[in-house]
Amino acid sequence: MEITVIGTGYVGLVTSLCLSECGHKVTALDIDKKKIKLLKQSISTIYEPLLDNLLGKNLLNKSIIFTSSFKQACRNNIIFLCIDTPGKVNGAPDTRNLYNAVRLIAANASKNTLVITKSTVPLGENKRILSKLNAMKTRKDIVFDVCANPEFLREGSAVSDFNNPDRIICGLEEEKIKKLMLEIYFPIESNKKKFIFMSFESAELTKYASNSYLATKISFINEMSELSENCGASIDEVKSGMSMDPRIGKDFLNAGLGFGGSCFPKDINALIHAEDRFRIKSSLLKETLKRNAIQLKNFEKKIITYYKKDLSKKHLSILGLSFKPNTDDIRESISIKLINRLSPRVRLLNVFDPAAMRQAEIALNAHKNINFCDTINAALSGSDGLILCTEWDEFRVIDASNLVNMKEKVIFDGRNILQKFKTLDSSVKYFGMGL
Ligand code: UGA
Repeated sequence: MEITVIGTGYVGLVTSLCLSECGHKVTALDIDKKKIKLLKQSISTIYEPLLDNLLGKNLLNKSIIFTSSFKQACRNNIIFLCIDTPGKVNGAPDTRNLYNAVRLIAANASKNTLVITKSTVPLGENKRILSKLNAMKTRKDIVFDVCANPEFLREGSAVSDFNNPDRIICGLEEEKIKKLMLEIYFPIESNKKKFIFMSFESAELTKYASNSYLATKISFINEMSELSENCGASIDEVKSGMSMDPRIGKDFLNAGLGFGGSCFPKDINALIHAEDRFRIKSSLLKETLKRNAIQLKNFEKKIITYYKKDLSKKHLSILGLSFKPNTDDIRESISIKLINRLSPRVRLLNVFDPAAMRQAEIALNAHKNINFCDTINAALSGSDGLILCTEWDEFRVIDASNLVNMKEKVIFDGRNILQKFKTLDSSVKYFGMGL
């Protein structure tokens, strides 16, 4: 099939390359000409495992082309919308870029076109997209259809998530669209078991509800971790006890510094905004966000209390800057938030991350006491304390030999991955989350 993907951000690039990898001829469009230039040269604009290979291979066999021309992109009759919808100050998603693309599709479409919304859009928005397409189309003979097809890709494993979906949600109003959706996804889901067809609104809410539920699960276990610390329980033991119940499960029950990233905080705020719009009185999602903020405050307090409130001569090391492992994304990163709070109080912060150094240097540019290190050992050299914020695999294997050049051997483990130091070495002081 000949398919267009509009937007080559995180979701768009993964979607376009995975679709071309599974045999479709893809045209990927972005209005950012610099991005298109890089992609044409086979230079990936995001850090995501497996993506570089897909880009090189599919460019070479000409199953993907990159363009900034809507005229060219609208020659295909299937168009995926992968435009970001960042949160506004009031929590509502900003759909201006999305509607700009909708307007240009309406102006450039040359045949009947199915527009598939992958972007996370406010409740009711797919209906609006359909009516805007029809209201703004220049050729009145053209028929537009819309399918709400939210993405469930996790950064760091997006390619494998695309190829092995838990579910393919299709919100639609016309029966005929089902056939096209089955055809598009046939190479990855030929037995049709993962498809769920529903209304536009159900598809939109499924996306928000999934992310908000997962975030709430994290906040719940984090609240239990504070209780664990106070009553002498271990959150790890509590987690293993809880997760033996299949109704609860073990996923997304890792206590720690809380959730970050571009999706969870934004989507919860959007859902809170939607509840307000429908005059629904509820505090559940607000509490999810509050608990997430409390985790960071408690962690910071733990560090400050340990040094008896005076960190002015301290030289601390922060390991992990991305919002989670296997990505260079620092949006809403808890680590960056912690650095912003600690930097004014300490003498020096040595920081290290396996992938996010360049992004962090830009974001932390205003702080003059941050030393960007090349290795774990360089970050720990001469340090008065190790603060672990992101659970990269590289950090899980830290052992006593990495700590030899620390001035004071103390570990504040925001992700509970260095628990071996609790018992391994009595010269190391270890503080975890809820342990
Ligand atoms: C999330 C969802 O998992 C995807 O299904 C969804 O498609 C995506 O948002 C999106 O809306 O685009 P992502 O933001 O990449 O994906 O990251 P997750 O793996 O879900 O992790 C989110 C945050 O929760 C991270 O900061 C992570 O450290 C934290 N987390 C996760 C915990 O604190 N504890 C856990 O047990 C699990």
